[in-house]
Amino acid sequence: KTIDSLGDLRGKRVLVRSDFNVPLDGTTITDDGRIRAALPTLKRLTDAGARVIVMAHLGRPKGTPDPQYSLAPVAARLGELLGQDVVLAEDLVGPSAKKTVEALADGQVALLENVRFDARETSKADAERAELAGELAQLADAFVSDGFGVVHRKQASVYDVAQVLPAAAGDLVLGEVESLSKATGDPERPYAVVLGGSKVSDKLGVIANLLTKADRLLIGGGMVFTFLAAKGLSVGNSLLEEDQIETVKGYITTAEENGVEIVLPVDIVAADSFAADAPHQVVGADEIPDGTIGLDIGPESGKLFADKLADAKTIAWNGPMGVFEFEAFAAGTKAVAQGIIEATAAGGFSIVGGGDSAAAVRALGFDEAGFSHISTGGGASLELLEGKELPGLTVLAD
Ligand code: 3PG
Repeated sequence: KTIDSLGDLRGKRVLVRSDFNVPLDGTTITDDGRIRAALPTLKRLTDAGARVIVMAHLGRPKGTPDPQYSLAPVAARLGELLGQDVVLAEDLVGPSAKKTVEALADGQVALLENVRFDARETSKADAERAELAGELAQLADAFVSDGFGVVHRKQASVYDVAQVLPAAAGDLVLGEVESLSKATGDPERPYAVVLGGSKVSDKLGVIANLLTKADRLLIGGGMVFTFLAAKGLSVGNSLLEEDQIETVKGYITTAEENGVEIVLPVDIVAADSFAADAPHQVVGADEIPDGTIGLDIGPESGKLFADKLADAKTIAWNGPMGVFEFEAFAAGTKAVAQGIIEATAAGGFSIVGGGDSAAAVRALGFDEAGFSHISTGGGASLELLEGKELPGLTVLAD
């Protein structure tokens, strides 16, 4: 259901779930991509004369108010971007929220304080979440689900509230699903997937699914060392999940059986320690010296990966290739980003998913327009690529 299904919204109180889980340095937002991505739906609602009540989470507080996770910096930034003051209620469903909602005029926007300050939000007990959803529903006439990054969470503000108010998917959620379904449905081939990030264990489900779906799987980031170890190579002091080695061996066998090409780096940037200024050297992937830590894929691997992406018609990328936050270890991630941009210019459809890769694209100065779609979802986009049904989406279709 889309926003149109909610009818005339003038004067109506519309509760919107957004994903404003942005990276913070103290109280400074270091990447406001998720807030910007929420603007089209919010502007559409204010233009329609709705009284907009936004709810969101920040971080993982323990179900009780905790000032370090206050949405105050988000309210300020959202106000700047919308060009109107956004009042932050001091609570979620308490006296301050009620007063704030009552004071809203048509076309105005308020933000409720962090939904995760209420333990019922993330409760595993259906009745507890339903109770909170009931209280949230009293604040509003309709619900718009627009926090794509949280649609994989069965939580009160995402899932339960959609069952008690007239509910619709916002434009961000619709756009994300439409773009991601180009990879999850019947992807145009060759379909290449680049996976990075630190842990194989975070990506088990998605790798298993991709082994039946993708043509090429390019692996970098911290997780690559478990793949190298599974091939019998020594990885020095690099990140290694010993308990995943057998699983990865199984993946390598399945890939061979299914005709899926697993592309691993041929060289590695090995550093003496985990630090921005650590002495480092480029070594073959089969000769990582004892005592060193692999912090990026090497230049030959960057070329190899770009080559494997060049003719791809569908590309999904999740996870940086190295510790891109340190200049000395950013080249691998840059090479992959550049390779994807070129493949996109040549007619491929590219999706960047995962908070880290989207942040890497912006932090490294790449033009977001060079990619077909930059997802605001981390876990949510991975779970879609994994072929899972997401509760926050199914509840809108019901
Ligand atoms: C994210 O950052 O991926 C989303 O905001 C979800 O956050 P969570 O993993 O804490 O539920």
